[in-house]
Amino acid sequence: MSRELILSPSMLSADFPCLGQELTQIVKGGAKYIHIDVMDGAFVPNISFGMPVMKSLKKWKEANQADLIFDVHLMIEEPARFIDDFKEAGADIITVHVESTKHLNRTIAAIKEAGMKAGVALNPATPLSVLDYVLDDIDMILIMSVNPGFGGQSFIPQTMQKLKDTKTMIGGRDIDIQVDGGVNLNNAKEIILAGANVLVAGSAVFGKNTLEQCKAFQDLFKDIKQSV
Ligand code: DX5
Ligand code: ZN
Repeated sequence: MSRELILSPSMLSADFPCLGQELTQIVKGGAKYIHIDVMDGAFVPNISFGMPVMKSLKKWKEANQADLIFDVHLMIEEPARFIDDFKEAGADIITVHVESTKHLNRTIAAIKEAGMKAGVALNPATPLSVLDYVLDDIDMILIMSVNPGFGGQSFIPQTMQKLKDTKTMIGGRDIDIQVDGGVNLNNAKEIILAGANVLVAGSAVFGKNTLEQCKAFQDLFKDIKQSV
């Protein structure tokens, strides 16, 4: 297992009145990323938050000199319209859905030209072959393990095979495999062994004891690294 294992807690499930404390806990707990789910009520049947909320997170990050990567998952129609705005709001990685854009290649190029890492997300029913001609241009593949739009859903079992196929498809390329939806401490090991190295977790991190949950994921990562 060569790639770094990374936890990306999904802010969607955080306690918003105490967001600063939540972020402090995840950083203390060893999370390298914060997963920021942006929803527009058109691509997905839900609306979440956007640039203004991210800008206040950015202020928090600067004030606390926090080492936290903003991992932005755009669930919006034609995301290319907002790439520069998300950059300004602090995005480090932008992931767009292949189903949300008519011009995937152009959108990926715009993300990279703006100086960010580019990810491409696939809904559960979308085949991997849509990535055939962009594989050399992307930094991350996000395999959705639920239908996007809501936290707290159950992991779709067919995702395990899709992760294995993704790993095979990538070959020796320098691409992270992120998995998002229904990830928890019980299924994380199988998910990692199937090929994922960036794990998004919302309800499994926030809502109980955020710090303890993050630490439990880090312990699991260590165990897996040592055993393979
Ligand atoms: C769903 C979002 C997820 C969500 C994950 O559309 O993309 O990031 O917050 O939540 P859990 O981990 O609770 O399934
Ligand atoms: Zn997400």
